[in-house]
Amino acid sequence: MSRISYVNGHYVPHHAASVHIEDRGYQFSDGVYEVVSIHMGKPIDMDSHMVRLTRSLEELEIAWPVCLRAMDMIIREVIRRNRIRDGIVYMQITRGVATRNHAFPDHHNSAFVVTAKRLPPFDFDAANKGVNIITTPEIRWQRCDIKTISLLGNCLAKEKARRAGCYEAWFVEDDGMITEGTTSNSWIVTANGELVTRDVSNTILNGITRLSIMKVAKENNIEFSQRAFSLEEAKSAKEAFISSTTSFVKPVLNIDDKPVGDGKVGPLSAKLLSYYGDHMKAQLA
Ligand code: PDD
Repeated sequence: MSRISYVNGHYVPHHAASVHIEDRGYQFSDGVYEVVSIHMGKPIDMDSHMVRLTRSLEELEIAWPVCLRAMDMIIREVIRRNRIRDGIVYMQITRGVATRNHAFPDHHNSAFVVTAKRLPPFDFDAANKGVNIITTPEIRWQRCDIKTISLLGNCLAKEKARRAGCYEAWFVEDDGMITEGTTSNSWIVTANGELVTRDVSNTILNGITRLSIMKVAKENNIEFSQRAFSLEEAKSAKEAFISSTTSFVKPVLNIDDKPVGDGKVGPLSAKLLSYYGDHMKAQLA
């Protein structure tokens, strides 16, 4: 079965899906995106993703390409046409096609693209195996709170991780504080047992998975703090993990080649992973 994508009003074979060379997304990274996971055919936490997308568009003054209701229908149609049971749906909105000029064009003709792809289903055991990460200097811009397609800093760091045989890289600011991963949020369980993730500011993306983990933690009476933590604190932590739409909750076993705690999947990480799985299942009804 060939993949079908949505491009500016048309459902087209994925291999033939294309946009104009003067699309501002292509020329200036002038656009925003969302990635939503699909579990048993259902988009997970769709409302929260739409809230964040709305904010991203507003922050960049990019017009809605279609209304929210139409967007929701298009996204579900792409999932349906690709017969996705487990996987992701990707949506991107750019400021559209205009003669190249850094300042915004006068007209609004935002471009809207949706793709979907199958991925292996959520697997508690596999996710429980854990991953290794490296750290790298924070080199990104000062609006990491916007989910923009401008991701070169993230790409450079992810490639560095890949070359080191690692799954992810955590960005470290000049003062030694960790912001987040290249495609995920960062969490630790400190030596004193405090569950910590960085507080929301312009330095991180407010992950939807991050928010869901905080929700399930609250529901299960697990306390957590939202505050900046340092690389030093992370290296002496009992546990660490990352969270994202595509990675769910992934325990971190080594940071820069040094084991976190005993170098095994920690109990709190495993618990939160399991609660996150329940959170996904609860949306299937
Ligand atoms: N990345 N921080 C960054 C920089 C991210 O790119 C992502 C997600 C997250 C986690 O956000 P969420 O829980 O909403 O997925 C944090 C997506 C998955 C991506 O770019 O593919």
